[in-house]
Amino acid sequence: MAVAGIGGFADLHHLALSKLEEENAVHVVAACDPALEALAAQCEAHRFGSRGVAAYKDFETMLALHARELDAIAISSPIPFHREHHSMSVGLGLACYLEKPPTLDPEELEDMIATDLPAAQPTAVGFNHISQPWRLRLKERVLAGEFGRIVEVGFSGFWRRPIGYFARNGWAGKLMFGDKILLDSCCGNAMSHYLHNMLFHAGTGGLWDWAHPVEVAAELYRSNDIESPDTIFARGTLEGGTQFRIAATHACETRLRQREIIRCAEALIEIPEDGCGTISRRGEIIERFPAASLPPPDLLRENLREYLAFLAGERSRPSSTLADCRAFVSLNARLYLASSCIHRIDDAHLSLLAADDFGGITLIIPGIEQTCEDFMTDGMLPSERGSAWAREGSARPFSGEIAPDLLRQQISRLQACAREAPPRHLDKIRKA
Ligand SMILES: NC(=O)c1ccc[n+]([C@@H]2O[C@H](COP(=O)([O-])OP(=O)(O)OC[C@H]3O[C@@H](n4cnc5c(N)ncnc54)[C@H](O)[C@@H]3O)[C@@H](O)[C@H]2O)c1
Repeated sequence: MAVAGIGGFADLHHLALSKLEEENAVHVVAACDPALEALAAQCEAHRFGSRGVAAYKDFETMLALHARELDAIAISSPIPFHREHHSMSVGLGLACYLEKPPTLDPEELEDMIATDLPAAQPTAVGFNHISQPWRLRLKERVLAGEFGRIVEVGFSGFWRRPIGYFARNGWAGKLMFGDKILLDSCCGNAMSHYLHNMLFHAGTGGLWDWAHPVEVAAELYRSNDIESPDTIFARGTLEGGTQFRIAATHACETRLRQREIIRCAEALIEIPEDGCGTISRRGEIIERFPAASLPPPDLLRENLREYLAFLAGERSRPSSTLADCRAFVSLNARLYLASSCIHRIDDAHLSLLAADDFGGITLIIPGIEQTCEDFMTDGMLPSERGSAWAREGSARPFSGEIAPDLLRQQISRLQACAREAPPRHLDKIRKA
């Protein structure tokens, strides 16, 4: 196997793969990263020398020199390179484990699905949670009708991210990367796993069905000086009439808290981050179920192990294929099509969390957690609720097809709206 990427999240791929190598489950022969010169410590930590992992700066060179001895590749390069790396790998007959999100451009996703069709093994997309045995069992129970008709699904996520998170590379917080549609955001990237989970649970056409969005209303906000939103509220309708609500933010005091919700006619299922799921009927918990997620390095190792088992013919399918990502990529694009602007929150409504234990100064919207919880309860967007920082008229439901160029034109409008905003002066923002 080879790996695209050495630093960033790819570091965890190398950690996971070196563990799997100790079990003789895989052998890594090469890795590449354009920042190779700055990554000597990582190469050393992963013992590239003694394990015989050849390191390159360039993806093409790595494949040219090693493709013949490779069966598979793990692609953990930045999102804008996924299509190119996927297409070159499939073209050389390599099986791909591709980090999520495969792309956030619906048209590019269709191209990638078409590229994947002739592949001997379908590409696996590294969404973290779909294969959790408890999650699959839960979906089977919902599909069997044990809790009545599915009525609503939801996700609320508070994942604090410091200002430095958006400056860590050349693509974080961007809507475009050159002429490529990127749409990096709290929903498109960090918490994308949970939107993909939400659509999975709402897919009523069978276990491996993800519900597509039909109508989407959204309000997008940014606290950080970025193009894209770091705070998103959305509601709408999915195929089959199931309603959905999403409230996600990086601009929060809470370091990490989230909740997945599946509301059926006769029960409410909640999956919080503490790994203890509950099923309630008429306000009373009637069942608790283990819904734990492994910590990131172990989770990735288990996902890669599953993928290797699939390649060995021991599993019937990867837990998320490229085609399975259509619903998520479509929902993410519709968040932008439903929004007239990505509203910049005024300095007066922000606080600075200094000396953050999670890597530096963070811009937060004080009380955003309560606004999100209220939205999850009554579905009122911040502008409808009259939140001091909200902007009226920002929600405009989108329910059409995504015509070619529509998204691109909308992104141009959103970028123009972002350019109008004055730069932030952190010294004018009060300390939390
Ligand atoms: N599964 C998860 O839980 C999880 C968590 C974090 C990130 N990710 C995903 O991992 C991918 C990488 O994200 P990141 O935040 O680590 O990105 P990043 O910008 O930090 O880049 C990761 C590494 O790739 C290298 N790189 C840049 N261009 C490259 C190229 N052309 N070829 C090979 N390597 C290249 C960078 O130098 C860096 O060392 C994204 O798809 C991201 O969404 C997944």
